[in-house]
Amino acid sequence: CGIVGYIGTQAASGILLEGLRKLEYRGYDSAGIATVLEGEIHCVRAKGKLINLEEKLAGEDNPARIGIAHTRWATHGKPEEYNAHPHMDTDQRIAVIQNGIIENYRELREALKSRGCEFRSDTDTEVIPHLIAEQLATLEDSSLLEAVRLVVNQLHGAFAIAVISADYPDELIVARQQAPVVLGFGQGEFYCASDTPALVPYTRAVLPLENGEIARMTPLGVEIYSFDGHRLKKTPRTLNWNPVMVEKQGFKHFMLKEIYEQPGVVRACLEAYFDGEWAATDANKSPIHLGLAPELLADLQHIQIVACGTSWHAGLVGKYLLEQLAGVPTTVHYASEFRYAPAPITPNTLTIGVTQSGETADTLAALEMEKKRRSSFTQPELQSRLLGITNRPESSLGDLVPNIIDTHAGIEIGVAATKTFVAQVMAFYGLALDLTDRRQAKSPEQLEEILVGLRQLPAQMEVVLESQERYIEELAHDFAETQDFIFLGRGINFPIALEGALKLKEISYIHAEGYPAGEMKHGPIALLDAKVPVVAIAMPGAVYEKVLSNAQEARARDARLIGVTPMDEQEAADTFDTLIPVPHVDELLSPILTVIPLQLLAYHIAARRGLDVDQPRNLAKSVTVE
Ligand code: G6P
Repeated sequence: CGIVGYIGTQAASGILLEGLRKLEYRGYDSAGIATVLEGEIHCVRAKGKLINLEEKLAGEDNPARIGIAHTRWATHGKPEEYNAHPHMDTDQRIAVIQNGIIENYRELREALKSRGCEFRSDTDTEVIPHLIAEQLATLEDSSLLEAVRLVVNQLHGAFAIAVISADYPDELIVARQQAPVVLGFGQGEFYCASDTPALVPYTRAVLPLENGEIARMTPLGVEIYSFDGHRLKKTPRTLNWNPVMVEKQGFKHFMLKEIYEQPGVVRACLEAYFDGEWAATDANKSPIHLGLAPELLADLQHIQIVACGTSWHAGLVGKYLLEQLAGVPTTVHYASEFRYAPAPITPNTLTIGVTQSGETADTLAALEMEKKRRSSFTQPELQSRLLGITNRPESSLGDLVPNIIDTHAGIEIGVAATKTFVAQVMAFYGLALDLTDRRQAKSPEQLEEILVGLRQLPAQMEVVLESQERYIEELAHDFAETQDFIFLGRGINFPIALEGALKLKEISYIHAEGYPAGEMKHGPIALLDAKVPVVAIAMPGAVYEKVLSNAQEARARDARLIGVTPMDEQEAADTFDTLIPVPHVDELLSPILTVIPLQLLAYHIAARRGLDVDQPRNLAKSVTVE
């Protein structure tokens, strides 16, 4: 979900709607807005995407200078208007928006009901305005801040809330517990939002609230307190973003723009992580500069990676690199599984959390649990063996873990991850090569060869984009009606097969499965017939011949075979019905190239089907609930 709030000198509703537009990637089941107008709360809500709310508000000239707005990704209660935020108390004097989950809402709801309270929605959020109203009725000095503070102390779970009241027309109260919210500072006007894109058009002075903090915003300034009521001293920081980063810049969709940004992102990573001049003759110094403390990587016996979705796929590529290059045994876990069944803890294990948003609740919870477990070690360097990989170092992940590799992808707006994935994989090249160098797992000459290969990637990515996009767009026509797809890959390209299938599922709603090519014969082959296209990634290297023979097995079942393979490979040309050529590249570096045609294929099939590529149904860019 996305939340936005405004208090200041301008009409709030336009600013709030603009903010929601920027946050719509976080959820789009319903939207709503509440302002304080002539001593009353004026609340308008609509089911479905933001456009429905905009239509309802069209023609309304609302001069209110304070308000809150919400775009919802349904957790408790169906995506209907009565469940849309803001929610109000019985007398409609208080309006609340929330992102997160109130875990003890059932008890609170039952208790409120027994005291005569009537509920108008199925949501967990509605308990909050009712509880605030109760507090205000009993408090002697009736302070809105104090009432909200007493209520947040009763709530369990992960939440960020914003509250306004018709009786306090100059106050906006914002609180955070485990779900992100950032405050923005203008001249005599102040903002809050779940994420910085909603703020960049107005201000670059921002302050992310930390867990257990509550802010009172008035047109005169912002005060921040802890949940136990102590005033805190905080200084805003300056974002080095510009508003252009969150515009489409002529592309039809953010996703396509972000696919095209990938060569630039890889260049930025190369520049940040590696010495551009280094050669094997410089073996006395390291070519890798990740800025990580040496203790973090010393004497490692095991690495465990926790992540969700596409970031989990980047973790699988990471595992391949860390094991095959650096020789460090590595396991990759779904964060949602790991947090309830963690592997036994060992001192020489490094735990890595990978997340593009830096806010995924499951990933943060898994890391938090790991941090707690590690506090049982007496040496401080063992306690802090946690590393985050993200393009959002200013996120909650940045606060949680002591070490971060910034992946330099900037913000991604398209819900289906593309450039952030490629950037995460680049971070794993950096980490794996750093460990390889420290452990001298490869010779300086081998290291140089890999670095030379890495430096060529951006230009090769551009070749794929320039030479293949049109062709893939045409190819996509053939699959607009297809119902099932199989993606095959082996070795380092197995995770790319998974990612290709996930991209297709996410944005085109076509059923797709990714498999290690050698596993196909143990089950999925039963699915194959002339109606099921098979996309195989076949890059020359350790498993090239194997993939080709697995592809033959599919061909024998009449499946249409599409090969992502180098341009000039005769054997591949003979095997596949359709070729999507990519430049010749060392297998070890190939995922950065092979993923691009799969992203483009998913994109063009979805666009061809007329679907909402940037905001696919049921998904959200950052899932801040469990
Ligand atoms: C959501 C997004 C996915 C993403 C996953 C993990 O489900 O829709 O695209 O891969 O979360 O997100 P993270 O921010 O942790 O990388």
